[in-house]
Amino acid sequence: MKITLIGFMGSGKSTVGRELSELLGFPLLDLDRLIVEKTGKSIPEIFESLGEEGFRKIEASVLKENLLKGGSGIIATGGGAPAYGENIEVINRHSFSVFLKTPFEVIWERISRDENRPLVKLGREGVMELYRERLPYYEKAKLIVECEGKSPREIAREIVSKLSLNEGEGRASPEGQGWQT
Ligand code: S3P
Repeated sequence: MKITLIGFMGSGKSTVGRELSELLGFPLLDLDRLIVEKTGKSIPEIFESLGEEGFRKIEASVLKENLLKGGSGIIATGGGAPAYGENIEVINRHSFSVFLKTPFEVIWERISRDENRPLVKLGREGVMELYRERLPYYEKAKLIVECEGKSPREIAREIVSKLSLNEGEGRASPEGQGWQT
């Protein structure tokens, strides 16, 4: 089984992904990290050399490649992934998608000084516009979790309870491959 975490930059996908990975014993695949490993470039370097369009092409192919791989896992996507091409359909076809819904003010507070996120250069208004544009894509997720006021561990537990899985079930799998559907 694959669980894909979607949501805006700074919504906690990587942090919640780590908690979920611990609770379920599934490996965590961080899409941005896989892109950096594959290209040997940082995210800002990819945006600079190939443009956002070039980044989206790599992102879509790395996403699909990992969704189609066998075994269980948690995929933490980049904030833009669900809003481009057919990515959200591919995510929903091959995994249980979870939207981490976090208020814009919380997000902006977390990301506004981050130099590793090229889109922050758009400024508060520009980023808010992006947030609004992307919401309809995020809302296609199979599960929407309201994250305000909850710790990453609480959010991860909520996802597990909605999945009706027992914590640690993945670890108990005989192949050590995680929980399979
Ligand atoms: C992006 C989000 C980033 C990263 C890239 C573009 C976006 O990931 O993929 O900077 O378009 O929202 P995070 O959501 O992990 O910050």
